[in-house]
Amino acid sequence: MGEILLTVEKLKMVFRNRTASFTAVEDLSFSVSQGQTLGIVGESGSGKTMSSLSVMRLLPEKGEIAGGKIMFNGRDLLSAGEKQMQGLRGNEISMIFQDPIMSLDQIFTIGSQIVEAILTHQDITKTAAKEKALKLLKEVGIPNTERVYHSYPFELSGGMCQRVMIAIALCCEPKLLFADEPTTALDVTVQAQIMDLLKKCQEAYNMGIVLITHDLGVVADAADRIVVMYAGKSMENATKDEIFNKPLHPYTMGLMKSIPHLDKKQDRLYSIEGMVPDRKTMPKGCRFSTRCPYVQDLCQEKEPDEKEVVKEHLVRCHRAEEFLKGGKIIE
Ligand SMILES: Nc1ncnc2c1ncn2[C@@H]1O[C@H](COP(=O)(O)OP(=O)(O)O)[C@@H](O)[C@H]1O
Ligand SMILES: [Mg+2]
Repeated sequence: MGEILLTVEKLKMVFRNRTASFTAVEDLSFSVSQGQTLGIVGESGSGKTMSSLSVMRLLPEKGEIAGGKIMFNGRDLLSAGEKQMQGLRGNEISMIFQDPIMSLDQIFTIGSQIVEAILTHQDITKTAAKEKALKLLKEVGIPNTERVYHSYPFELSGGMCQRVMIAIALCCEPKLLFADEPTTALDVTVQAQIMDLLKKCQEAYNMGIVLITHDLGVVADAADRIVVMYAGKSMENATKDEIFNKPLHPYTMGLMKSIPHLDKKQDRLYSIEGMVPDRKTMPKGCRFSTRCPYVQDLCQEKEPDEKEVVKEHLVRCHRAEEFLKGGKIIE
């Protein structure tokens, strides 16, 4: 693994209006190295998108970073000015989103949008930018690049639009790419193609990737490390192998059980009972305690801290050491 690119330490992100505030992300720490894929997994509403938008400093209105530290390539992003952030975005850090068709501008051709992205960041002629755009389209596996170059987004499939978004994201050879649910809106076969493409681009550019998804199946192949988030906090942070083979948080164990297995006949897919708590129902102790099959008194009284239970395997659970000794508890 290469050098560390991004370090997020104890990030806290809140929404505030005049009368109330709501903490969407709290005590979140992770890092990403060159050539590494970090998967961030969790149910909808767990704070995955707000975490990545915090790093990009692109939070929605009323959203603000209330604490923590974000270092990218030696620079402190929380003290960087907007001009400096603009220089980083699309240049050294890029992002692709869930809905590729909506992410593109419907009234401009694909070609003009890629050229525009290139010219925003690079001091080259329009002709050179066009050449580069066609080369990028080819690189992301688009057949008949001249035709696609002159097409409008609505004339292409979702998978093709996501390839175009990846071409735009890659136009400046970013060091770090945030991919927020990049395949959620796509068909299963197209999902696999897009994941292959991301892998290929990662190898070509030695990019770090933060792959955000609600689907543990997606990160099963692609990620090197995984952060499992629940209601704004990281529950477990470990290598993919440890997450899949030695999960130490009951929430991770539950997510694991809910992945469909092709080799096992299952009548009904397991799902974790209950709902992610919101600000009104947030329990006093561990935020997963209301749904946890292993809940004890302590869990309802005191929220656990994140602990390094095994080297570089962090867990936020009072009973993690017990699970470690007892092996995997949930069958
Ligand atoms: N613009 C917003 N205003 C207020 N709350 C928001 C806004 N966007 C997201 N949230 C809340 O922040 C929390 C985290 O959201 P998000 O990061 O989008 O979750 P995820 O990406 O994991 O589905 C959720 O509880 C969500 O309802
Ligand atoms: Mg999201």
